[in-house]
Formats: sequence, C-alpha cells, structure tokens
Amino acid sequence: NEGALWGGRFADGPTAAMAALSKSTHFDWALAPYDVAASKAHARVLNRAGLLTDDDLAAMSAGLDRLAADVADGSFGPAESDEDVHGALERGLIDRVGTELGGRLRAGRSRNDQVATLFRMWLRDAMKRVGAGVLDVVDALVAQAAAHPDIVMPGKTHLQAAQPVLLAHQLLAHAQPLLRDLDRLLDADRRTAVSPYGSGALAGSSLGLDPAAIAADLGFSGPAENSIDATSARDFAAEAAFVFAMIAVDLSRLGEEIILWSTPEFGYVTLADAWSTGSSIMPQKKNPDVAELARGKSGRLIGNLTGLLATLKAQPLAYNRDLQEDKEPLFDSVAQLELLLPAMAGLVATLTFHADRMAELAPAGFTLATDVAEWLVRQGIPFRVAHEVAGASVRAAEEAGTDLAGLSDEQLASINPALTPQVREVLSVRGSIESRNAHGGTSSSQVARQLDVLNRQLPAL
Ligand code: ARG
Repeated sequence: NEGALWGGRFADGPTAAMAALSKSTHFDWALAPYDVAASKAHARVLNRAGLLTDDDLAAMSAGLDRLAADVADGSFGPAESDEDVHGALERGLIDRVGTELGGRLRAGRSRNDQVATLFRMWLRDAMKRVGAGVLDVVDALVAQAAAHPDIVMPGKTHLQAAQPVLLAHQLLAHAQPLLRDLDRLLDADRRTAVSPYGSGALAGSSLGLDPAAIAADLGFSGPAENSIDATSARDFAAEAAFVFAMIAVDLSRLGEEIILWSTPEFGYVTLADAWSTGSSIMPQKKNPDVAELARGKSGRLIGNLTGLLATLKAQPLAYNRDLQEDKEPLFDSVAQLELLLPAMAGLVATLTFHADRMAELAPAGFTLATDVAEWLVRQGIPFRVAHEVAGASVRAAEEAGTDLAGLSDEQLASINPALTPQVREVLSVRGSIESRNAHGGTSSSQVARQLDVLNRQLPAL
C-alpha cells in the first residue's frame, strides 16, 4: 500500500473491493484547490510553532504553488492508488519537494479536521455563487414587475378565482421568498465560517499550532470551540442543504405558475423560444421545460437534504467514515442550482404577458364579491349579513347569466335594500385593486412602494 497516508501497522494492503468502496477522489477532487490553500496556511503555522524552518517553509510553499498550478491546469490529478484528495495531494507534494520535506506537512493535522475545514471553505464559496444566481432571478422578477405596473390578473386561492390583483404584486410575491433565501444563505455562512483546523483527529493539537491564526489566514471568523464537535459536526452542511432545497422549492412554485400560465387555457404568457423546447413528434408543441426542470430538480434537492440528515442521525462522536457521504449531496445540490438559476432568470426575463387575456379573466368567477361585502360593511352592515348579501348577489348573477356589474339596480335592490346603485363604484377590477391600499396590499401605490423598498434593498445584496 505504498504512498497511502496510513499503513505502518498493516502487513497487507486493502483488497481491491475495499479500496473501491473507500475511494472518494472521483468527487472530493472538488476540494483540491482548498486543500492546497489550507496546506499553505498549515505550513505557516508549523513554521510559527518552530516545526518548519524558514527555508523549509519557502520550499514547501513554492512546491504547493506548483502543485496548485498543476491541479488547476489538469496536469496533476488523482491516481488509481489514491484513496482521497488529501492523500493524492500529499503524493503530489512529495513528488515536487521530496519525501523529507513533503513528509513534514501532515504534522498536527488529521484528515478529520482537514476535510471538515475544506468542506466549509468550499461551501462558503458555493453559497456565494448560489446567492448570486438567486439574485439574478430576483432581478428578473423585479424588472418584469417594474415594466408592467398596470396589468391586472385573477388572484387565486385553491387555484380558484379569488380576487383581482396586479401582475406586479404576484411577481414580487415570488421575489420575496427568494430574498429570504438569500438572507438564509448569509445567516448560514455565520455558522459555516468557523474553522475546525487544529482539532486534529478529534482531541486537538499537541504541537503548539495556533488554530486562531490558521482560521484567520483562511478567512474564517475564528476557530471552533470544541475539537470533538469540530471534526464531527455537519449541521452546517445540513443547513446549507436545506437552504438549497428551499431555493429549489421556491423556484418550483414559480415554475409551476409559469407552466399553468403558458397553457392555452390560461393564456397569460408566451415563453421565449430560446427558453422553450419542442416535441420530437408534435410539431406544434412549445414546452416549458425550464419550469418543469425546476419542479423536477426540487425533488432531487429535497432528497439531498433528507439523505444527509439520515446519514448524520445515529452517528456517535466523533468522526466516522459515514461522514464521507456528506459531500456528494451538497456538491449535487449546488451543481443543479448552478444549472437551474440562470435558466430561470432567463425564462422570467423573457416572458411576454398578455394583458388583455388577464384583464378579461380578472373579474371572472365573481372575484368582486368580497368588494361588495366590504362595501356593505362600510355602509354599516355587519359583515355576517354583508357576506350573505354578497353571496346572494353571486347566486342572482349566476342565475341571470351575468357578472355582478351586470345586475340591474332593481335586481340589486330586490336582493337587499342596502344594495343601492352606489355599490357599482366597487364593481370594477381597478376599483377593487386600488381599494386594497393598506401596507402590503395589491393597490398600485402599495406595489410601487414594495418595488421601491426592493430597489433600495437589492444593491446592498
Ligand atoms: N475522505 C474522508 C472524508 O471525506 C476523510 C478521511 C478520513 N478518514 C479517516 N480514516 N479518518 O470524510
């Protein structure tokens, strides 16, 4: 088992099946740039602890720089004999600076604190990339809302016609959860930004290495308080997996609406050709695959979260090899979001809205009935009665085959004397929308205020 990180107490190397099971280089190679950077920082603390001379530090750093360049251009990669990225990179360092010097680097460090540190470093960068992608989707939603301040549409509950709303209000209702997801990423980073380096295998370092120094060197906010916890905790990864799944679920809900809106039955939007696909057999088809993949991938990201939690749930402290299973779900969630987020931003930015169709449907299904009831309340009628009267108006209109505004003054008065012709002032979509003018409502001034808040918030993100 030559070249492995362990083997002194073993007479035999692992069987091929053991090695194949154990191997992680096919995925943990993503940590290689972080591993080299952290090794350079580790060499500096070894030097400060008097375990590496200045000349050795210079030679070691130069060797690590060469290794980093070779990793970056692909000329150095994992070999068949490498168990994981850490072993492969030690092999690479020894190739470049010799066994005597290369063999000094690992002092005071275990793969257990190492992998926990590198995974956190990778995740912090990944959360920033995902956050930028989320922000692009928010920007696209905000731009569409700003470009269409006047389009009205049917607001729905239970997918049934409920009350008219502004399209801009509905679009921003998808921007708000994504902004909360961005906030979740920032908050998760506070807990991820704690360095396990110096924890060793589980019990800490005896060599006088300074965990605070290496933490600062690597951009962490500080060193972990407990070496057992630092090497075995993965709640930071589960938390990120949750935020990634939540982002995917939020995109899925937006996608589901776009799918519905693009059907001829709704007819609210046309999708841009560049963000749609065709059918191999039905020439007329234009399919909303981006939105469907958002819906589909959300299931996959939920799986990555629940899979990781299941991996963690019964592990005793401290490190167990089970933890090697922590990385692939997170790598996958990030890779899927990096595919999905730009496509969703593009899809949203290029939607063409059909204002006439939405305006035609906005009052359909008696969506102004609540306005009748609330108008009656403003005339001093108790809401229970008002609700009954408005309901009776819906029944009368349904029987007469008209909408609420189509009832004659006599028909209205016969339903209830309180229904004077003045009720017509709320029997328009516009009137209904503009009357909902309390903070957060769908009136045009409230939606403009909401846009304004967003436009002041976004540049800071
Ligand atoms: N590759 C392992 C992981 O990803 C780190 C190695 C720890 N191995 C060990 N025997 N302690 O978790």
